[in-house]
Amino acid sequence: MKAVEDMPQLYDLYFVSSNKHKYDETKQILKSFGISVGFYKYELEEIQSSSLKLIAAKKAFQAFSKLKKPIIVEDAGLFIDSLGGFPGPYSSYVFKTIGNNGILNLLNKNRKAKFISIIHYCDQNCSKHFVAEITGKISQIQQGKGWGYDPIFIPKNFKQTFAEILDKNIVSHRYIALKKFTSWYLHKKKQNDR
Ligand code: IMP
Repeated sequence: MKAVEDMPQLYDLYFVSSNKHKYDETKQILKSFGISVGFYKYELEEIQSSSLKLIAAKKAFQAFSKLKKPIIVEDAGLFIDSLGGFPGPYSSYVFKTIGNNGILNLLNKNRKAKFISIIHYCDQNCSKHFVAEITGKISQIQQGKGWGYDPIFIPKNFKQTFAEILDKNIVSHRYIALKKFTSWYLHKKKQNDR
């Protein structure tokens, strides 16, 4: 496994993923909390499960056993009410297969949806996850040029999609989960530094 960017600087922790968009957002969010995070681009095996928490935990153990350094991984999903929570844990596969237009074609009047993010931290002594969600709705058409489902997800209290709003990284599911992680992590660090 090879760090693809920001070498040879050493970081407190590494974000392990094959998704550069997720890393870019994570880096920006953690920077706003004073934490610098390195990127290890690596395709972690994703187990088939209906539980994002379990998927994230398995990814975290895999990432830590490869890297042997403190890591975070994320598992996220888009849950659409009228589809019984689909695509949920299958969000990545569904995006690659039917994509945003496929999702739009499945929906009628009820367009309520939510994004869930699980951030899982792991080091040699501890393993802990942080959960967050943001509710909203699916737009009628694709709007904006974001990655993944960003062009079709309108967060609650907004009129534009994640792809169009500048504030994504201060309102998103990822932001809320990373904020929870940060307050725990900085407290733990402070105690360790004593
Ligand atoms: P996973 O967490 O790697 O399993 O990814 C779940 C899938 O959900 C991703 O491949 C994206 O398609 C989608 N996804 C997760 N978070 C976001 C987001 O913030 N914006 C847009 N799509 C997202």
